[in-house]
Amino acid sequence: MRLPLLATAAAIACSAALGAGEAAPDFATKIKPIFDERCISCHGEKKVKAGLRLDTPAGITAGGKSGAAVVAGKPEASKLVTLISHPAGHEDIMPPKGGPLTKEQIELIKAWVAGGAVTAGGDAKAKPAESKPQPFMIPVREPRAALPADQTAAPSTLLERCAKVGLAVSALPGSTGLYEVNARHLPTPWSAAESDLVGRLGSGVVSLDLSPNTTDAHLAVLTKLPALVHLRLAGTAITDSGLETVAKSTRLERLDLRGTVVTDAGLDQIAKLPALQSVVLIGTKTTADGVAKLRAALPKLVVKTDADLPAGDPATLSPEGKRPRK
Ligand code: HEC
Repeated sequence: MRLPLLATAAAIACSAALGAGEAAPDFATKIKPIFDERCISCHGEKKVKAGLRLDTPAGITAGGKSGAAVVAGKPEASKLVTLISHPAGHEDIMPPKGGPLTKEQIELIKAWVAGGAVTAGGDAKAKPAESKPQPFMIPVREPRAALPADQTAAPSTLLERCAKVGLAVSALPGSTGLYEVNARHLPTPWSAAESDLVGRLGSGVVSLDLSPNTTDAHLAVLTKLPALVHLRLAGTAITDSGLETVAKSTRLERLDLRGTVVTDAGLDQIAKLPALQSVVLIGTKTTADGVAKLRAALPKLVVKTDADLPAGDPATLSPEGKRPRK
């Protein structure tokens, strides 16, 4: 009946919260140097342990094999924070070698996550929790040919409800009633209520980002989204069986599965997608043989795998090209 005193003390030491209103530490000058020094030897370009890359903003956002590494605004729900906060010698502590991070480093990372885990240098004002819907991470490019005709705009009450639960819905520029939906700020795990809201946007949804808190069960909502062109599932907990649902999205052109546990069996499902143009398989459990088979089935498909990771230019990790930097 003896409590592990050391662990308890460490937990208390680590629970100091960021005072409200305090500016979050700057990613480029305060956080990235810690990742560079202590993490990227295993979570970088050469080794991608647990499917997690901490050397690029895209990698940090995508998370690893078990999903999100950081939940913006919620250090207590962020796996990365939990792992670095374990007491020295704990079997799951990160980094596993070379001793724990210092207390100051841990507090900095926590404060950064609490402040929204912003990965751009000067963007510290953005606080996802109360900000207006942010544009979809990877812009929908040249989707014009494949886009459905303009739809009736979604009722403003529906859009307000989406915003309230943390579903970012943004209208596609130059169209009416077509939307990009981002579920990044939904709670873990999200529920039928949120799923219902996405479903009610129906044929207006052309682009959907379900990273990172999504499981196979959530994918049932896809059957209500006949116009979906772009689906991002990076770093989610989806498996091959979830892809059976995805395989019914006949208009889907782009699919991002990076950092999931998808295997070659899932690729057989992907091969059924008639409109698919590109798929990202970086950090998945697929094999070169499986990918070769997929390429044979869909010769025009652009497939991004670990083998395609450009040396020395992690910014191009994003399949659709570089994101605009602010
Ligand atoms: C010596 C190699 C090594 C270093 C250095 C390292 N890690 Fe890891 N990391 C691993 C391995 C191996 C795993 C997988 C552990 C498992 O699945 O049991 C992992 C898993 C993780 C995960 C869980 C990812 C997931 O989705 O399951 C996170 C988060 C993480 N590491 C964060 C960090 C951070 C932050 C640092 C630096 C402070 C770091 N790691 C440094 C080897 C390393």
